[in-house]
Amino acid sequence: MGVYSSARGTIQIALVNTVLPYNFIILGISYMTTETLPVLAILGGTGDLGTGLARRWAQVGYEVIIGSRTQEKAEAAVADLREVMAERGVAEISVRAMENLAAAEAADIVTLTVPFSHQSSTLDLVKEALHDKILIDVTVPLVPPKVARVQLPPQGSAGQIAQELLGEEVYVVSAFQNVAAAHLQEGRGLECDVLVTGNKKVARQAVITLIEAAGMRGFHAGMINNAAAAEALTSVLITINKQYGCHAGIKISGLDDID
Ligand SMILES: NC(=O)c1ccc[n+]([C@@H]2O[C@H](COP(=O)([O-])OP(=O)(O)OC[C@H]3O[C@@H](n4cnc5c(N)ncnc54)[C@H](OP(=O)(O)O)[C@@H]3O)[C@@H](O)[C@H]2O)c1
Repeated sequence: MGVYSSARGTIQIALVNTVLPYNFIILGISYMTTETLPVLAILGGTGDLGTGLARRWAQVGYEVIIGSRTQEKAEAAVADLREVMAERGVAEISVRAMENLAAAEAADIVTLTVPFSHQSSTLDLVKEALHDKILIDVTVPLVPPKVARVQLPPQGSAGQIAQELLGEEVYVVSAFQNVAAAHLQEGRGLECDVLVTGNKKVARQAVITLIEAAGMRGFHAGMINNAAAAEALTSVLITINKQYGCHAGIKISGLDDID
């Protein structure tokens, strides 16, 4: 475990290797020193899932940039985030509002939280700003109105669409497809595990660190092709939600032997 200090306290973060040197770079991904946390941008961060992630990460001390198609909408989301944090007794957060491209440029790690129908156009817009960065793709390729039916795209998954569009110089990691935005937005603990797929293990690990900071467990779930499994599972969860009136998630079992 590595310990990161920020202005808002000390955060424990699991690293791939605890003896990594100060300011190290692996596979083109630069890592933070013990003094700083990565700056996080959330594109489409004004929406349901983006709001949930922003709350979780801002609350534990990450600098968060809310991205939007318009500066005004991003600023309104920032104002809302400050209000919610104040209600929760979090006095100081580091959060900024920007249009999506500027947000992607300013961040170390970028999360895309827009509907599937706008995934490619938004990635086209920010592609150049993502070189050598991690792009967390949360997209579920739902095809309304039949969102409770698995309808994966011809490319295999939204995660593969993102990786193909961005090229190998961007480290696409797919995650969060099975977490309900409603639960993320709440201030309580979250009993939901996250499957993490992507072609670079070190990039997946960096995202698992963010998942743990947000109060959940993240699991290495293989290459980006395996994003199809988490994306398909969302339609199963939507079916369960309709049937039982809940916001269902997933939990990995059989981990008793792990320290
Ligand atoms: N909601 C959930 O519980 C949940 C759970 C797991 C995964 N996901 C995935 O997370 C992603 C976001 O879901 P959501 O429910 O948060 O979506 P949402 O609230 O409907 O939309 C998110 C944001 O997308 C942006 N957007 C809308 N139309 C756009 C367009 N034409 N071009 C570019 N951006 C556009 C908007 O931001 P601006 O208007 O500010 O630009 C909007 O606030 C989806 O891919 C979804 O499958 C959602």
